[in-house]
Amino acid sequence: MGSSIAIDGPAGAGKSTIAKIVSKKLGFIYIDTGAMYRAMAVHMISKGVDASDADQIESNIDSADISIGHENGEQVVYLNGENVNSRLRTEEVSAMASKTSANAKVREKLVELQQKMAKTTNVVMDGRDIGTVVLPDSELKIYLTAGTRVRAERRYKELIEKGENCNIDEIEADIKERDHRDMTRENSPLKKADDAVEIDSSYMTIEEVADKIISLYNEK
Ligand code: DC
Repeated sequence: MGSSIAIDGPAGAGKSTIAKIVSKKLGFIYIDTGAMYRAMAVHMISKGVDASDADQIESNIDSADISIGHENGEQVVYLNGENVNSRLRTEEVSAMASKTSANAKVREKLVELQQKMAKTTNVVMDGRDIGTVVLPDSELKIYLTAGTRVRAERRYKELIEKGENCNIDEIEADIKERDHRDMTRENSPLKKADDAVEIDSSYMTIEEVADKIISLYNEK
């Protein structure tokens, strides 16, 4: 088993930005597990799957070959051999991933892949169930949160910078709905592991959060 840092928390808390900085500073590989659930969602959309139908989801899992590579320090997700990075961040894929990631068989397949990757290398892995299910023996577990309004404001700024039209109240309502689904689902709901350190990033800079995680790791 390699060394690992597990970072869990709701969408928009800054997990991926912070995990990237921490992994770079420590020389670990960063694994964004949300991107794997998103790649699975891209697959389900391309197969025309109805997300409310578990049988349809389950009969399309085996035909999704998902793997992770790294190019120029960036994680690349391959779906059946194709780099799908540019297709992962749409609202359609976010909504589909939130639904299909609740399926136990989808999770079983992706968790196995994640555990395999952490066996051979030192990783910073982020997601929802990393400290609780994927890497229960991780040396350092972080539960990263931020208030819903703060997270909505961050997302709003990103979209405005991209030139997209959006409404902050709708974004906040969307975040709340997704949090609720992630936290109340039957399979591996988002929750803080008993031995995780909780960090509220609402009023901290990215660097402050990253430095805190690195100092917590160095204290171990
Ligand atoms: O972190 P993200 O927004 O890219 O994740 C996409 C979806 O996948 C989100 O609805 C939560 C889900 N997810 C999960 O269930 N377990 C993980 N380890 C990572 C993400």
